[in-house]
Amino acid sequence: MWDQRFNVPEYIYGTNPNDFLVEMVNHIPKGRVLCLADGEGRNGVYLAKQGYTVTSVDQSSVGLKKAQDLATVHGVKIETVQADLADYPIEEGCWAGIISIFCHLPPSIRKDVHKRAVNGLASDGCFILEAYTPRQLQYKTGGPQSIDLLMDLPTLQQELNGLQIKHGKEIERQIEEGSYHSGLSAVVQIMARKA
Ligand SMILES: C[S@@+](CC[C@H](N)C(=O)[O-])C[C@H]1O[C@@H](n2cnc3c(N)ncnc32)[C@H](O)[C@@H]1O
Repeated sequence: MWDQRFNVPEYIYGTNPNDFLVEMVNHIPKGRVLCLADGEGRNGVYLAKQGYTVTSVDQSSVGLKKAQDLATVHGVKIETVQADLADYPIEEGCWAGIISIFCHLPPSIRKDVHKRAVNGLASDGCFILEAYTPRQLQYKTGGPQSIDLLMDLPTLQQELNGLQIKHGKEIERQIEEGSYHSGLSAVVQIMARKA
């Protein structure tokens, strides 16, 4: 499905980074950053431009090819890894940042990925997430149509046990991030740190 969706000349989520990531980027210590489900690479390329050493993981080879093209256009390098997050081994204790922007996985996989993300962060490492909540089903301005793939703050607080949540909010905000994410939206945002 994702290869098919990405197989068009334009960047369907745009080439600008996610607003919440831009707001929070200064909390990430300099070093290696892992972008989960980075798709066409708008967030990974942005982070590389800020001086981070970026690894972008996604299941879509078509998306990751576009991510590499975007990196070339911006004169930066990123590592891209094609993998299913269900079995992607997140290297332990080494990431200055782990980024999850609109990474909507089935709950059992999401829970496990979050556990691996907590273990993956170096001490002082920063986890940044923005995703649609179940309330987004009423807005019809983007995101998965299946409630199973949506997430709320209390669930994420449990799944990210081991991190100190510095910013954890469910909000409504205007999103203009490409043709598939457009309009007033219900999202959950997290910025958390490993002690
Ligand atoms: C809504 S897009 C978001 C892409 C990117 N994070 C952004 O904000 O532009 C969701 C991404 O999740 C990826 N994805 C979905 N399930 C995945 C899985 N099990 N393993 C790896 N990537 C996955 C898709 O390939 C797609 O690139």
